[in-house]
Amino acid sequence: MLPRILASLLACTVALSWEGAAANEAECTFGEKVIRFSHVTTPVGHPKGRAAAALAERVNAEFQGDLCMIVHPNAELYSDNEELWAAMRRGDVQMAAPSLAKLSGFAKGFQVFDLPFMFRDMIHVIDFTYSDPAQDLLKSFDDKGLTGLAYWMNGMRQLSANRPLAGPGDIRGLTFRIQGSPVERAYYDLLGATAQKMAFSEVYGALESGAIDGQENSWSNIYTKKFYTQQHSINETNHSVIAYALVVSTDFWQALDPDLSARLDRVIQEVTHEYNGFAFQLDEVNRAKVIESDTPVRRIRADEIRDWRETLLPVWDKFAAEIGDDLISAASAN
Ligand code: LMR
Repeated sequence: MLPRILASLLACTVALSWEGAAANEAECTFGEKVIRFSHVTTPVGHPKGRAAAALAERVNAEFQGDLCMIVHPNAELYSDNEELWAAMRRGDVQMAAPSLAKLSGFAKGFQVFDLPFMFRDMIHVIDFTYSDPAQDLLKSFDDKGLTGLAYWMNGMRQLSANRPLAGPGDIRGLTFRIQGSPVERAYYDLLGATAQKMAFSEVYGALESGAIDGQENSWSNIYTKKFYTQQHSINETNHSVIAYALVVSTDFWQALDPDLSARLDRVIQEVTHEYNGFAFQLDEVNRAKVIESDTPVRRIRADEIRDWRETLLPVWDKFAAEIGDDLISAASAN
């Protein structure tokens, strides 16, 4: 039986998660500028999938004759990697929301989001994203052909493996999938594990085949991509965050009539606000679904978290200078 609080969250989820949002090719009319939005997660039951669909729904309803948005989920066009940036520069894709852990090539400051145990929870992360240093960080795409528009939330990262992990010492010798952030690599190095960079679309298969022993991700990613079905257990570490930068191709953005881009930006900020709240609900719902499955979820006591945090603290020192004092201070501020 689902607890009452969860049942009410589920009711909200249903209210917000309508279907059929994005247009397809055939529905765009002559003269409309097409916004192709590429992302890698599921379109349903997932905060990014739902936010992208909601944005498309509003664009296609409110900008008829001017704009038409088509969403491509599940990495059906591209993974969030160099090929995607090239496609955006070519004008084949106009919008994307890559994970912040894949953005250190644009600006080292994005690594602040990967620092282990920097953020207590998602509220802490959201507060930080409104700080001046975090807003300035969104501008770091400016000379790379992209424009950063907003931060989109997913959830805190949990650690799963194909064997029990009672503490940081149990990671030694295992192979974990990482998104590619140097910070992730550094903490697995410190723990004596191997970090294997891998596209999101390949993780399930690699867990199933045993090519990797474990991975770290949000509840929404762990549930919607069924990672939990291939793991011994999930450890509720909440050790860092999965969140996104919503980016648009600068050539596309600047070619829009200023009035149109201002209206579109307003819609984007409204959808961001609404769906960052929705991410909390989905995080709870997807966590509950994993807990209801056969895969054990291990709660981590406060003293155990202290142990993890102290073990991984040298990673902060290693990256503090390249991330920069302003970002670290703003993130540590509350
Ligand atoms: C991952 O690669 O694990 C995540 O970035 C996927 C996503 O976009 O949430």
